[in-house]
Amino acid sequence: MEDAELDSSELGTHSYWQQAYIKEINNFEENGDPGDVWFGEDSAMRIVNWICKCGIDKDTAIIDLGCGNGYTLSELAREGFTNLLGIDYCPEAIILAEKVAKSEFPDLKFQMPTNRDEWLECSKEFEKLWHFPHVIGAIDGKHILIQCPFNSGAEYYNYKSQFSIVLLALVDAQYNFMYVHIGTQGRISDGGVLQGCSLKRMMNEKSLNLP
Ligand SMILES: C[S@@+](CC[C@H](N)C(=O)[O-])C[C@H]1O[C@@H](n2cnc3c(N)ncnc32)[C@H](O)[C@@H]1O
Repeated sequence: MEDAELDSSELGTHSYWQQAYIKEINNFEENGDPGDVWFGEDSAMRIVNWICKCGIDKDTAIIDLGCGNGYTLSELAREGFTNLLGIDYCPEAIILAEKVAKSEFPDLKFQMPTNRDEWLECSKEFEKLWHFPHVIGAIDGKHILIQCPFNSGAEYYNYKSQFSIVLLALVDAQYNFMYVHIGTQGRISDGGVLQGCSLKRMMNEKSLNLP
């Protein structure tokens, strides 16, 4: 088969996931339905079983990036893993995951903060540990090297003369990831990545519920 660029999918847009999770939060509140496991429960369980067989300690830190409703993490918690963190760039996914996990797995952690008190807690930690008042997170980008995608010219060519996509991350005072955005073309600066990501949009719309 010839290499060809695939059409972009609406699944790659933040608005798609936001709408999906708003519906799923309503479904959960009305019917107790935890929502879709997007790649199917079988796939999630294959990952869980693989992790169980790796022989790692049960307190090994595991991050589920793009955790959705948190199904994979709940199953890992059921297997006895204790240091689990779910991250999603869609705050609605975090709200859903927290609601779903609340009764059975209250110790599961999901980021990022979704209300004023959680942000204040975050800021207190920065002041206590680093003596920076009024800070709610530390942000930076990391280039993930890739092979040049077909027909993409200099789109992914970065200032270090490599091809990459950018992982933009916001961390709390103890380096825990709170927000990630992955996939922006490597030629774009960290500032440009921030401009185009949902974190900035939520800051502009004042929907982060900051104090
Ligand atoms: C296909 S769903 C999978 C959800 C869950 N892991 C599951 O298996 O049910 C993809 C998830 O990744 C999140 N996501 C998509 N693009 C992302 C990005 N660039 N950065 C962080 N999260 C992203 C979406 O909000 C969505 O929750």
